[in-house]
Amino acid sequence: MGDQVLSRREFALRCAAAGVSYAAAGALLTRTAGAQAPAMQAAARPGRRSVKLPDGTTVSALGQGCWHLGQGRHPPQVEEEALRTGISLGMDLLDTSGNYGHGRSEQLLSHVLAGQRDRIYLVSKVEGDEVAGDGIARACAASLGRLGTDYLDLYLLHWPVPSSQFPGVVAAFEQLRAARKIRAWGVSNFSVAQMQDLLKVPNGARCATNQVAYSINNRGIERDLLPWSRQHAIPVMAYSPLGGDRNLVVNDRTLASIGSAHGCTAAAVALAWVMRGGDVIAIPESGSPAHTRENAAALSLELSPAELQTLEAAFH
Ligand SMILES: NC(=O)c1ccc[n+]([C@@H]2O[C@H](COP(=O)([O-])OP(=O)(O)OC[C@H]3O[C@@H](n4cnc5c(N)ncnc54)[C@H](OP(=O)(O)O)[C@@H]3O)[C@@H](O)[C@H]2O)c1
Repeated sequence: MGDQVLSRREFALRCAAAGVSYAAAGALLTRTAGAQAPAMQAAARPGRRSVKLPDGTTVSALGQGCWHLGQGRHPPQVEEEALRTGISLGMDLLDTSGNYGHGRSEQLLSHVLAGQRDRIYLVSKVEGDEVAGDGIARACAASLGRLGTDYLDLYLLHWPVPSSQFPGVVAAFEQLRAARKIRAWGVSNFSVAQMQDLLKVPNGARCATNQVAYSINNRGIERDLLPWSRQHAIPVMAYSPLGGDRNLVVNDRTLASIGSAHGCTAAAVALAWVMRGGDVIAIPESGSPAHTRENAAALSLELSPAELQTLEAAFH
């Protein structure tokens, strides 16, 4: 596993040195590998965008956020149906946190996980004020209890703590990994400087992803974090990929007109745009089965260079 991480990063660095887009070269390699070993690349079949994490795990490029679920926005059965609909359409990465609705999001997810835990890539988070002592292990145990499962696929530090605490955080994550309570760990809302500090810590390079805000109307990470992440082959997980509740792009006219040419909605176009590079995972949230179906269309939507140019002009 360690060899795979190193060679992948080395590959990314060489791509950068040669001026070749890491995503483009990676996509080509994925296609080549897929032709040679179809069984190993099952998740990368056409029509289902996927992203490879540094440990070699392939996950769907389109997941489902769960921040507000289980808290009365929609009836709980409707929210559960939305998640099941998304899973059946390939959005089988679920993103929650121990602090979403004081645990109610995780509790709702437990109903959806029941009977199909193995087909879900489950992500949860620990808070910065929980990391002292054995706090990460205790928070993880509480999340596992609420979720009704005995492991997380990915455990994230929700918000940065001072860099001096990184060694302790990484050691605690690694202990959970050794105990098979989590399969991988990562961070969220980290800047480039914080990522650089993280990589200096023993085992810090095992970070699987950095979950940050990214949408067509919120492109701040393109300045520095996204290129840095590509150079280091650490995929970004884009939260609020539809713009978030206060800035939703689902009614944007340019997105809608491109969507109508493909028989899908503005939301699907916005999500396909976030995933266009092949190395960004998008986690839109919806408690509505109809919206989830609309969003899932992004998994098989390729935007043409002309459409990307139109969007560039509309959202620069
Ligand atoms: N790490 C962090 O600090 C952090 C911060 C924020 C969010 N997150 C994660 O990212 C996830 C998504 O972020 P977000 O909830 O902020 O923003 P978002 O996914 O950009 O937007 C969610 C909103 O869009 C609506 N929506 C979804 N699909 C739609 C569609 N097809 N048509 C119309 N409306 C649609 C949803 O309403 P309906 O339910 O009615 O569809 C909801 O109000 C969260 O659930 C959470 O898991 C992480």
